[in-house]
Amino acid sequence: MTSMNDYKQASPLSETVRYEERQGVALIVIDNPPVNGLGDTVRRGIAQGIVRAQANAAVKAVVLRGQGKVFCGGADIRQFNTAAATASPMLRQVNLSIERCTKPVVACIHGVALGGGLELALACHYRVADSSARMGLPEVNLGLVPGGGGTQRLPRLIGVADAARLITSGKHVGAKEALQLGLVDAIFEDDLEQACMAFALSMADSHPVLPVLADIQVPPPEGELPDFDRLHIGINPKARNAIAQRAAILCVKSAMDLPFEQGLDKERELFEELVAGEPSKSLRHMFFAEKEAAKFVGKDCDVAEGHICRVGILGAGTMGGGIAMAFANAGIPVVLCEREQAALDRGMALIERNYQISVSRGGLTAEAVKERMQHIQRTLDLSAFAEVDLVIEAVFEDMAVKRDVFVQLDRICRKGAILATNTSRLNINEIAAVTRRPNDVIGLHFFSPANVMKLLEVVRGELTADAVIARCMQMAVAIGKIPVLVGVCEGFVGNRMLTGYWREAGFLLEEGATVQQIDAAMQAFGFAMGPLAMADLAGLDINWATRKRLASTRASHLRYSRVADSICEQGRFGQKTGAGYYRYEAGNRTPISDPFVEALITDCAREAGIERRRVSDEEIVERCVLALVNEGARIVDEGIAQRASDVDVVYVNGYGFPAWRGGPMFYAQSLGWTQVLAKIRDLHTRHGEHWIVAPWIEKQALNDILAQP
Ligand code: NAI
Repeated sequence: MTSMNDYKQASPLSETVRYEERQGVALIVIDNPPVNGLGDTVRRGIAQGIVRAQANAAVKAVVLRGQGKVFCGGADIRQFNTAAATASPMLRQVNLSIERCTKPVVACIHGVALGGGLELALACHYRVADSSARMGLPEVNLGLVPGGGGTQRLPRLIGVADAARLITSGKHVGAKEALQLGLVDAIFEDDLEQACMAFALSMADSHPVLPVLADIQVPPPEGELPDFDRLHIGINPKARNAIAQRAAILCVKSAMDLPFEQGLDKERELFEELVAGEPSKSLRHMFFAEKEAAKFVGKDCDVAEGHICRVGILGAGTMGGGIAMAFANAGIPVVLCEREQAALDRGMALIERNYQISVSRGGLTAEAVKERMQHIQRTLDLSAFAEVDLVIEAVFEDMAVKRDVFVQLDRICRKGAILATNTSRLNINEIAAVTRRPNDVIGLHFFSPANVMKLLEVVRGELTADAVIARCMQMAVAIGKIPVLVGVCEGFVGNRMLTGYWREAGFLLEEGATVQQIDAAMQAFGFAMGPLAMADLAGLDINWATRKRLASTRASHLRYSRVADSICEQGRFGQKTGAGYYRYEAGNRTPISDPFVEALITDCAREAGIERRRVSDEEIVERCVLALVNEGARIVDEGIAQRASDVDVVYVNGYGFPAWRGGPMFYAQSLGWTQVLAKIRDLHTRHGEHWIVAPWIEKQALNDILAQP
């Protein structure tokens, strides 16, 4: 017999939310692919669904779920910076209307509930998940705090300490941990929707008083009260989102100290402050820039055809070993080939040691390491590459060696295999020219340590096929890298820009700055390392060799600092020789200032006829950063990078530029292009031809002027 409650009715509440009533349960279904983002129509639809469920006496309970792969991934990023993002009702109002519904509302969580998605679930009276669901409040990663009540409801639900940990770390938790924390009420394996409906009905029958988080006090913490000062001190001041983490702690403290509504107001106030500030703007810029960088639209092919299932790596040195780990970590089998047994053994021992460090730090289990090591097959026989889909060459940085290797690879590898080089500076077109398949040759410039660093410069040769580029970009994302497509030039994007950056550091030394002063000033700006400590880490001999190689192309009338060359002439190649710009004690990477280098700099200045003066930290930052900006602009002008934001992605992910400043190009834009232009012109007047302004900057400044009302 069909009861009145069994009737079925499915209808849209908005373009992106459906409503059904089944067996006395109202189902509100968010259907806004790809991640059911909380756009304006979703927010409106949910609010209307609650009103409808409330009004129908036949409805005993409400289930809120997501269509497709996830419950809800948070804000709809496509609406960022549009009027729709702030259209009424805002998430805060939607959440209050859910919370005030007099019938139990259950969030049915599968896939993910992240950011606003978890805040929505927190406003529901109950949360039910499947075992693979993941939940979190990752807003701090964008330099923000949750803005939909998450910082006020989460501490009321799971306690202050766990809430502070989740909100400040932005980390996701799995369903099992969520159950232990009390974040979800139950986990169901099969037919989540049906189980959730039954759960909702049983709550309606057995629990007349609904758990409304807004109405309860934050539970008193077990043991001592959390020490908020200690939580503040625990934040790494160098973290890209330190400001947001501090604000998150303030929000959680407000949940303890203030009534719910006032806590919500505090959360909103801090959110508004952060959203308008440069650090969050920069982090949001980076978020979109990284997504954009991975996109490739080719003329004949923009969708990668054919997955890369097996990879050959030639050379098991610093880079080859790290690259092998990067693939093994992603579960992609690798054949690692060396020219001699001793080098192969050394390479494998280093890989094993790196994995063991991860085990000792608790990052990996011994079983995981075993599995990863099994993905790395080792050989001295190049013919083992006959069946691989991609070869990455990581042998010595020597054109003759590379050419020889590519002739052999061309002979051995199957038709359609991609032949890549990890060269950091050599001309890929020259390497491709020794093969009969230049269309299949590409540069894949990994950064050291290759198993850790996320940046990958994908270097397009003159003849590289679009299909090959598309496959490499897709492969990069599959192994967790951030790919940036770049063109062939000396040093590609990242290392080319370093030339001007180091040039200015050398000039500043001659003019009167000290090694420590330059590094300290750049670190205070936010760089992970100063330019000179970084040079010591990278090895001064590599750049010395490049300078010698390019000496004949250098215009003789341009200023040239001999500081770096003189340091190398002393056999000081940086950390690896225990001395460079700094000196290093055995087994220790801490840079120690060295009067010998200061004397050497003074000599260089005297020989160049430079009268030393007091150099300010401000001048150091301005000259080093604007050198990056000017060269970055030239790179964009020449089409070596596809977009200015790609330059930012390279510098933040490969060179320690502070993410909260958004990369050199975004930073310059936030200074204002007219101001940047004026500063570079002034540097040109004072310091000469190295500072000829890039035409792209002039164009940006003109656009800014024309755009002014
Ligand atoms: P490395 O000197 O540590 O390793 C090179 C390895 O290649 C050695 O183990 C050597 O035995 C092996 N090898 C040489 N010729 C070979 C051949 N014909 N067949 C098989 N193996 C051969 O050098 P590293 O630092 O790993 O650099 C490799 C490449 O990666 C170079 O092109 C370098 O410019 C580039 N690169 C290096 C970076 C770094 O930070 N070290 C960063 C990015 C790129």
